[in-house]
Amino acid sequence: MVNVIFCGFGDDMDKRVHAKQGDILLRVAENNGVVIPHECKEGNCGSCVVRIEELSDEPDLTDKTSSVDPDGWSVDAQTTYMDDRELDTLVEMGAISRTEADKAQQYVRQTPVRLACQCVIKETILVKPFE
Ligand code: FES
Repeated sequence: MVNVIFCGFGDDMDKRVHAKQGDILLRVAENNGVVIPHECKEGNCGSCVVRIEELSDEPDLTDKTSSVDPDGWSVDAQTTYMDDRELDTLVEMGAISRTEADKAQQYVRQTPVRLACQCVIKETILVKPFE
């Protein structure tokens, strides 16, 4: 089990819930009373876009070096595969650049912006609305 922390989705929806690794973020939100707007649930419409921050349950406080590269990518983040459809939708709606999408594919990393209907939960995350 991992923690999913929802923040900024409205009254009574700021909460921390438990989820199974492998669960879909949108389903976890729905099951816990957090409203993330959505339409297609297939990664096409972009209506479920959210911001994701990966949180480590046990931060390594001995490492004082930066874990973020100059482009803002966490070099220590666990990987979450993003398929072409999700990346294309995010690029088309202007949520990420083509360069970010290409890096996500090249390094098998997730971007800080995800489609909740396509986001497979791998670790503890903080989820915020995309604004
Ligand atoms: S609901 Fe359409 S992309 Fe997620």
